[in-house]
Amino acid sequence: MAIDYRVSPSGPLVGDWRVPGDKSISHRTIIFGALADGTTEVSGFLDGLDCLATRDAFRAMGVVIDGPEDGLLRIQGVGMQGLNAPAQALDLGNSGTSMRLLAGLLCAQSFDTTLIGDVSLSRRPMRRVVEPLTRMGAVIRGAAAGTPPLSIAGGQPLQGIHHVSAVASAQVKSALLLAGLYAEGETRVDEPAPSRDHTERMLETFGYPIRRDHLSVCLQGGGRLHAASVQVPADLSSAAFFLVGASIAPGSEILLRDVGINPTRTGVIDILRAMGADIRIERERRFGAEPVADLRVRAAPLHGIAIPEALVPLAIDEFPALFIAAACAEGETVLTGATELRVKESDRIQVMADGLAALGVCAEPRPDGLRIRGGPIQGGCVDSHGDHRVAMSFAMAALRAQGTIRIRDCANVETSFPGFAALASAAGLALERVAGDA
Ligand code: S3P
Repeated sequence: MAIDYRVSPSGPLVGDWRVPGDKSISHRTIIFGALADGTTEVSGFLDGLDCLATRDAFRAMGVVIDGPEDGLLRIQGVGMQGLNAPAQALDLGNSGTSMRLLAGLLCAQSFDTTLIGDVSLSRRPMRRVVEPLTRMGAVIRGAAAGTPPLSIAGGQPLQGIHHVSAVASAQVKSALLLAGLYAEGETRVDEPAPSRDHTERMLETFGYPIRRDHLSVCLQGGGRLHAASVQVPADLSSAAFFLVGASIAPGSEILLRDVGINPTRTGVIDILRAMGADIRIERERRFGAEPVADLRVRAAPLHGIAIPEALVPLAIDEFPALFIAAACAEGETVLTGATELRVKESDRIQVMADGLAALGVCAEPRPDGLRIRGGPIQGGCVDSHGDHRVAMSFAMAALRAQGTIRIRDCANVETSFPGFAALASAAGLALERVAGDA
């Protein structure tokens, strides 16, 4: 069913909250738990649709997975060679992470598979994984545009490669490392800038030796994974909407508990602080291999900045929210070096520029970024284009809007942040879910 949000001027945001589990880490608990010897127990698992798509894909390949129930998940590992051919194509919904990581894993299996997705996923570029996997010996056929569906032929022997990636992408890196687990010899990935390193941390948690430095990771094929207990942190990418909301809504103060602060993810905190945000990191500790903390945010006057390009891969999913912060900041914010935003769940440069313009904010899209002049936000209607992060970002814009904002096509918020509307309302945002037209 089509869902719209109707969000009225409101705020402040207050209270003590825990946003749902980290999406990237939740996907990886299923993948490594399934391939491990023994039973893996997970707590804090994200029961968003994207991670459930990964779970269902592994169930379709014969893996017994119980849950999630209250975030608890139990995966009975089948070992490196224990997956079975699924009876039909694996439908990965909206989830680019599922498709790219599974492409890497499945090209190394003895059976054929086909990977399909929804309209948005079916537009996303897959050559970035298909090309290097093919060099390893994989046989994968995509649509002519290099997009899904992907037909993967099983039974191909793989050879390790040294891949120098043109983009800083954890999905590409992870796909190659997953294939590399089955390849002969060494698989090495070099990146132009650090991308999130949850795969590397989880390989270590599951006892698989890897070698890594700042921009490079490598492993030898042929090893085994050992079941583990994993506690998933709250997702900083979900917390980001509240970091922005509490920063822009006068009088706000919120505490967000157990948030992952892996340094390959914390660009959003650095960028907001550089804009003047008051974000404190409290009770730093670890959930296994991943650092976590409680984040305390108080409203503060923001000013525009030129966002350092080095921070772009470290905040890649948070730009929709950061653009709302920029719209509420004094002066101009300029983002460059972020072409990747054009190939996310939507073209986040164009879709955010159009939405901001519909609310009377001056936003000038560039091929690789956006220039935003802070100013008053009017009420109006914006289209999220089915992009969960765009929908949640415009919801936060209502905290400073002069009238009601209607946001179209919000059902996909469930892919990453089930319960967003309820949590945001409880924290002080006047948000209603209403039936959409479509
Ligand atoms: C992810 C990697 C990032 C990110 C995505 C999740 C992951 O994508 O945008 O939401 O879990 O590996 P890229 O690898 O394309 O940058």
